Amino acid sequence: MKDIFFCPEESNFYSNCLENFVIRNCKKSELVVEFGSGDGSPVINSLLRNKFDGVIHGFELNSSAWKVANSTIDEYDLTNKYIIHNSCLFNSSQPDADYLVANPPYLPAPDNDIYMPLLFGGVDGATITNELLSLDYENVLVLISSFSNPISTLNLAKQNGYCVSNFMVLPLQFGYYSSDPKVKKHIEKLRRNQMAFYSGDYYFLAGVLFKKCQDSVIDLSNQLAQVMTNL
Ligand SMILES: C[S@@+](CC[C@H](N)C(=O)[O-])C[C@H]1O[C@@H](n2cnc3c(N)ncnc32)[C@H](O)[C@@H]1O
Repeated sequence: MKDIFFCPEESNFYSNCLENFVIRNCKKSELVVEFGSGDGSPVINSLLRNKFDGVIHGFELNSSAWKVANSTIDEYDLTNKYIIHNSCLFNSSQPDADYLVANPPYLPAPDNDIYMPLLFGGVDGATITNELLSLDYENVLVLISSFSNPISTLNLAKQNGYCVSNFMVLPLQFGYYSSDPKVKKHIEKLRRNQMAFYSGDYYFLAGVLFKKCQDSVIDLSNQLAQVMTNL
């Protein structure tokens, strides 16, 4: 189990964002794609608490996490609602879907030799998040950390035609993975270049719903940028 992502506070927040921004808003049987399902608990908990007629296709590279997720899916009889592939979304043929959702790997570091290499988010921490916002899904729900160059993500999203339709923010204490000395030192360096924002032991994690801009969408990007950098 040691090699499976474990941070209940973060996973529960992701699960709440999923419920509020995706699952409860789905009127018909919508398709959802998830990048990095982990042990599956965030989606499973949301499905157990809500009525949802669609299907969620998860992608998880870590085989141990994938196995745990599948056995929980079986246990709760959710096999027709939540299907997880043991592969990388970027290297697979990407399913058409109404939503792409993820609590993506967002740890910044000089390289991926960190406690859990699959949590490496590129040198500034935003690489995978930014790639997810380049796949052209209509709606994207991602968690964004204030120490992972959040402004680059908001700029990239705008360039790709997205507005911030909704968000919620959780103050989080640096945990096991982000306190890895190699990661922490690198975050300190990013902070000097305005690419990481935190205060003492705390950073912000935002659950952000991006939507392709249309007249009906009010863009909250500036408000989100203000919150994320006000640390
Ligand atoms: C921050 S964890 C989130 C796990 C789970 N969604 C949660 O919130 O508890 C990110 C997950 O992405 C997975 N991952 C990293 N790179 C991946 C890739 N290229 N394809 C699929 N999954 C990946 C990791 O193994 C890890 O389980």
